[in-house]
Amino acid sequence: MEKPNYTQDYDKLLRSLYRAIIFLSVFAVLMALGLIYYALLGNPFGSQAAAPAAAARQEAPAPVPSPTADERIEDGIHLATGLRVAEGFDVVRANCTGCHSGKLIAQNRATRDGWQEMIRWMQRTQGLWQLGENEAVILDYLAANYAPQEIGRRANLDVEAIEWYILKE
Ligand code: HEC
Repeated sequence: MEKPNYTQDYDKLLRSLYRAIIFLSVFAVLMALGLIYYALLGNPFGSQAAAPAAAARQEAPAPVPSPTADERIEDGIHLATGLRVAEGFDVVRANCTGCHSGKLIAQNRATRDGWQEMIRWMQRTQGLWQLGENEAVILDYLAANYAPQEIGRRANLDVEAIEWYILKE
């Protein structure tokens, strides 16, 4: 009866173990490369399907309005916000047009105190944030551009120039 050669068996085992380790390392490296590719370039399997859609999009670009279109100013009025372009406009635009249209502001007239009242009211009830040192800039802008309109601006009647006539009986 043949005696089992343990050394040979051990060698065989060791060799297959090495092979397994090499195989697993190669596998791991490939996985890592795949992940890096995926992270940098996106899903390689999805891109095939997305490519024609992207091509179609390029052929017929959506009529996106030019971002500068809304920045037009006519007669000193910034069309997009309806606000007068003057000193402090940028600060007002940044702080006052997030919740409602600037047109709501342009429709109102008040003194500096009146404007401060409105701001306080919005801060109390509408979640308007603290304006810090911007508040003075905003109030200056509002008081200058949206002050109460003077009453009696109409030219006085020129009595001499009126052609009076007598009602006939
Ligand atoms: C956090 C949100 C918010 C911000 C920011 C904001 N408002 Fe208002 N404001 C409101 C709300 C809400 C109303 C009530 C709207 C309505 O009645 O339709 C209002 C109303 C107004 C009105 C109308 C008041 C009235 O009596 O009819 C004016 C004027 C106004 N805001 C000016 C401003 C100014 C100036 C700023 C910048 C300092 C500003 N708002 C910033 C929320 C805000």
